[in-house]
Amino acid sequence: MKKLLMAANWKMYKSVEEGVATARELVSLLDKLPEDREVLVCPSFIMMHSVCPILAQKAGCYAGAQNFYPAAQGAFTGEVAPEQLMGLGCTHALAGHSERRHVLGEMDELIGRKVAFGLDAGLKMILCIGETIVERRLGQIEEVLARQLESGLAGVLSTATAQNLAVAYEPVWAIGTGEVAGPDEILAAHAFVRATLTSLLPKEGAQIRILYGGSVKPDNAATIIRLDNVDGVLVGGASLKADSFSQIVLA
Ligand code: PGA
Repeated sequence: MKKLLMAANWKMYKSVEEGVATARELVSLLDKLPEDREVLVCPSFIMMHSVCPILAQKAGCYAGAQNFYPAAQGAFTGEVAPEQLMGLGCTHALAGHSERRHVLGEMDELIGRKVAFGLDAGLKMILCIGETIVERRLGQIEEVLARQLESGLAGVLSTATAQNLAVAYEPVWAIGTGEVAGPDEILAAHAFVRATLTSLLPKEGAQIRILYGGSVKPDNAATIIRLDNVDGVLVGGASLKADSFSQIVLA
């Protein structure tokens, strides 16, 4: 059975104390986590050490990194390695989040290296992709998604599986704006991602989970996760409060 992956991205929010309190509350609110769902929380690095053991108390709950540097160790000032994160109990990581691409200037090639390195190191990777509003208006959605998938997965075509890889479709114009993509927009983009995944990874492509992200809230989550080819969500703003994220997880 393909489980839904319900993921929280806390971005650069919360003190360690706040992260610990939210994680505790979340674990207790998710006491009756349905069998068909997994929960992933991606906190800031500073609280990974404190939040991982709390999430580990609940079967089906995992901690993920929002980012890392693709090297085992070395002179990379300010960066964090997969092994360092895994040593704290972190099991997953995002690569290519829209804010890494558009605010921090990460290019397709680096994102592809991160996916490959993270997967090799033993992290379960979530490759984030999505078009900007300008690209959408110019009719370039499929071109952009195909390019981001091809470059993001170039190094893992023989190693990616439905267990170690997921893709998150997050239209840039819907992130943090309150503007959610409509069902037809989500269906079309996810169908295209599915078709591209199946052609790049013929054995695993049909099973790899595709998450939707971009202004997911408690009141739209139930509709979104029931759409074809939607296998979970990646939630920013509405994941910061345990109460609202737990409503999304249980939607
Ligand atoms: P949002 O963020 O839910 O606040 O739109 C989504 C994300 O950045 O993954």
